[in-house]
Amino acid sequence: MDFVLRGCVCDCIDKERIDARERAYLVCVGGKSAGVFDTLPERFAGLPCTDCGGSLIIPGLTDLHVHASQYAFRGLGGDLQLLDWLNANAFPEEARFADLGYADAAYDIFVQDLLRSATTRACIFATVHTPATLRLMEKLEKAGLRALVGRVSMDRGCPPSLCESDAETAARDEEEWIIRSSDFKNVRPIITPRFVPACSDALMRRLGGLREKYSLPVQSHLSENLGEIELVRSLAPDAECYGAVYDKYGLFTGSTVMAHCVHSGAAETELMRSRGVFAAHCPECNANIASGVAPVRRFLNAGVRVGLGSDVAGGSTLCLFTAMAMAVRCSKLRAHFTGEADAPLKTEEVFYMAARGGGEMFGKVGSFEAGFDFDAVVIDDAALRSPRPLTVRERLERLIYLADGARIKAKYVAGAKVFG
Ligand code: GUN
Ligand code: FE
Repeated sequence: MDFVLRGCVCDCIDKERIDARERAYLVCVGGKSAGVFDTLPERFAGLPCTDCGGSLIIPGLTDLHVHASQYAFRGLGGDLQLLDWLNANAFPEEARFADLGYADAAYDIFVQDLLRSATTRACIFATVHTPATLRLMEKLEKAGLRALVGRVSMDRGCPPSLCESDAETAARDEEEWIIRSSDFKNVRPIITPRFVPACSDALMRRLGGLREKYSLPVQSHLSENLGEIELVRSLAPDAECYGAVYDKYGLFTGSTVMAHCVHSGAAETELMRSRGVFAAHCPECNANIASGVAPVRRFLNAGVRVGLGSDVAGGSTLCLFTAMAMAVRCSKLRAHFTGEADAPLKTEEVFYMAARGGGEMFGKVGSFEAGFDFDAVVIDDAALRSPRPLTVRERLERLIYLADGARIKAKYVAGAKVFG
């Protein structure tokens, strides 16, 4: 259905510009945006118009890295380092997803909460379990969200309950899952080697083959934590950098998302740029499990594609406004402690990363520019009281920092109302 929304529209133009307008018209035609207008053009005058009053309307956001299977323990273990945290929190929880009843209940909560957030698209890690992963995909599809969902591949360095017996079995299970996933329309499979320490070379090679055979995207973790990087160096001593291990097996492409990249050096950054790999910046997780702060300014300057991830449960919240605020804060701490000339990130840049930057993984997503998919979120910020009138731009900035005050009133994905 074609329609018009009227409200205070904040559009993401580019890394430097947010277009914030009082009481503008936002037009949806055929599931795509037809643009934002101060005066409704004659040709759209006959379309039904929903007046959202003084509410803010922003493009749907993309969570470029989140573990649905870890949602139940968010907020726990934030005082550990990555490898200890995986063993203490992540692996025991993920093992529970062998039980489809548990997975059903856990994924229900995750999908319901994701639906009520400002996120319209997400790159999601499930677990190694095929039935549970398919259940998650069903729930996301039913909710009307668009997602890339990964059944997590791992055949070493993890507890026996999560570890595939060998690379051949792992690849066979993966292919069977890919085939069974083809029934979904808006939720698609993504090849998901957990990270190099959990995937043998034989498994990586097979996953590279499946990527090519089925033309699938890829997601994984990269250069997150110093302990992990040391481990990778011992497992792949001949690789020029951590990212080169994925690249060797054809897993480092223009439809690959690598989470974190906190310690990516010049060679790895250039490899990401040249392949078109997306970096999913997850600042809250990086602070929680003591990984550091990714050199995002360097990535942006180098032309690496960057989006934001909540990385629940390394991160504690699905809220991408919080991820945006954390990205700004952490960039300031990085500049302070490294003494580098890196300028901290601006509001425009973090809004861009959460909207268009990550959205690019899904095509033309994350803006109201004509021709982009109509993903829109209507937000009531009346709880953020002010004794003086604020501009629309100021209201958006406060929302980013004071996300608790945001009430999501309605959400549209590719022109379909999925919430509100
Ligand atoms: N590296 C490998 N697995 C994980 C995970 O579950 N979370 C994070 N943050 N890093 C990882
Ligand atoms: Fe992660």
